[in-house]
Amino acid sequence: MSLKEKILEELESNSDTYISGQTLAEKFGVSRNAVWKAMNQIKEDGCKVASVNNKGYRLLSKNEALSVEKITENMSEYSKKLELSVYSSIDSTNNEAKRMVADGFRGDALIVANEQTKGRGRLGRDFYSPKNTGVYMTFLFSTDIKLSNAVSVTTATAVAVVRAIESLTKVKPMIKWVNDVYIGNKKACGILTEAVTDFETGFVQSIIIGIGINISTQEFPDELSYTATSLNINGLSRNKLIAAISNELLEIRSDLSNKSYIKSYREHSLIIGKSIDFYRNNIKYNAVAVDIDGDGGLIVKLPNGRTEVLSSGEVTVRLN
Ligand code: BTN
Repeated sequence: MSLKEKILEELESNSDTYISGQTLAEKFGVSRNAVWKAMNQIKEDGCKVASVNNKGYRLLSKNEALSVEKITENMSEYSKKLELSVYSSIDSTNNEAKRMVADGFRGDALIVANEQTKGRGRLGRDFYSPKNTGVYMTFLFSTDIKLSNAVSVTTATAVAVVRAIESLTKVKPMIKWVNDVYIGNKKACGILTEAVTDFETGFVQSIIIGIGINISTQEFPDELSYTATSLNINGLSRNKLIAAISNELLEIRSDLSNKSYIKSYREHSLIIGKSIDFYRNNIKYNAVAVDIDGDGGLIVKLPNGRTEVLSSGEVTVRLN
């Protein structure tokens, strides 16, 4: 255990009182300066610590740091086969996956970060990824990729996220087609799927599935403030959530021909039965979302009675 972890444990088991830097230094046989440095790291990790002159330190709230060990502890046998890496800060976990493919990596991997400095969303947007309050993770699948599987895996990812949240909390998340996860009427999670194609064969070489979840982010940039939210669940462990998402996704992926995840997708759909708008060739259409087909396509009914299947793009729905 590192000094930081030892001090955090000590603060946690004495959270109703102050402990002086001197007491901590003596207890762990280190200098007061070392205690001070460890305390700064603890605060950097997002824990709230009160420090009062002549009294010392008291833990107000804990934020568990992301770690390979803590994620692995909760992983299934399938998940443990992934090449797992955890970064405290990175430009984008999807970018890192692409770099791994470019450097010759050909297996399956999971890349996790505590913060992204250039988080990317769908349609060229940014994804707000502040440190300590979110989960930013990317699956890189290079083995057994067929394009049809790639599409199904994307749909399956949204199901894996809602199943994982439900397995750890009492929250009922919903999916807004294609792949946004909502809590109430606001978005708490987005998914960005990308493919790396082999230039010579034209086949998909790897698929990259990035998931961004707001866990406890309270302040969003102005442009997101009306549409974004966080899970806001006291005591939810990010490490456990990451492992649970991986376990659920790899379980579904182990048999994609079993389409039972489509049933879960339908049960969590935020838009089935609702009036939606979508754009095609820059023309806006209104329709009713009727169902999700076996490949995750959205079946819509137009005002003239015609039925169509949307396979990509974005729909808008009035939620309140
Ligand atoms: C969206 O809502 O438009 C998709 C957001 C996807 C964000 C995730 S966070 C992890 C991964 N890395 C990125 O840069 N983007 C995805």
